[in-house]
Amino acid sequence: MPENEHGARRAGGTQPAPSVRTCPQCFAAFRPAPICPCCGHEQPAPKQRPMQQIDGELKELKRITQLLNAMLDQSRQAPEPIVAIDLVGNVEELLALVRYQIPAHIHLRQAIPAGLCCRLPQGRLNQALLNLIVNAAQSIGEQPGTITVSAAQEQDRLWIQVGDDGPGLPAELLQSGVRAFATWRESGTGLGLSMVRRFARDLGGELKLANQEPRGACITLLFPWDKHHG
Ligand SMILES: Nc1ncnc2c1ncn2[C@@H]1O[C@H](COP(=O)(O)OP(=O)(O)O)[C@@H](O)[C@H]1O
Ligand SMILES: [Mg+2]
Repeated sequence: MPENEHGARRAGGTQPAPSVRTCPQCFAAFRPAPICPCCGHEQPAPKQRPMQQIDGELKELKRITQLLNAMLDQSRQAPEPIVAIDLVGNVEELLALVRYQIPAHIHLRQAIPAGLCCRLPQGRLNQALLNLIVNAAQSIGEQPGTITVSAAQEQDRLWIQVGDDGPGLPAELLQSGVRAFATWRESGTGLGLSMVRRFARDLGGELKLANQEPRGACITLLFPWDKHHG
């Protein structure tokens, strides 16, 4: 945008920055001043918001904050119910649904003993598995690969695992553990694993990260069996 000797700029197609004013007479854009440096036109005084209006806005902000907090409290008080889940049926349904989102060169399979049942909030379980499956698919990328959802009960624990044969978890992640907002992807949020870990912990369980031989990542949700058996 051309700039004249007064430091004023002709307004072009782009909007001036907020700290810049536009002269109502000649449309030159310039830093706030009582007179337009381009045409000398006297500028109208900037509109002041009366204290009464600011007061009203603050009250409104307070009201919205209280409303949001009340809604958050309410959602905390009504956690998703824990229900009996047939794991094979549940995971097969989930894999059939995600099949549409995961590219065809990635094979999806389950390895869960028939009849294994658990007691968990189904929506949160499926959201956690979905996060892990999408992570695995993103990591496998363009290569052919396989994602396996497995589960078993061992002694006093139920484990549910998502494994893949992609490049494996970054060494730094294995070392530092899950941290919110830590991402190694260009447009990642770094929130997926944190949400999965929150789900596991809310139910008295934990999340384990590992890589497997010869390649691939393996993410395991562990729950106490006495609380979560079917
Ligand atoms: N199956 C996997 N294979 C390899 N790396 C993974 C896998 N799952 C997660 N990761 C790594 O963990 C990081 C954090 O994952 P996540 O919390 O879901 O955030 P995001 O996917 O937004 O990056 C990813 O950036 C990726 O580097
Ligand atoms: Mg993710």
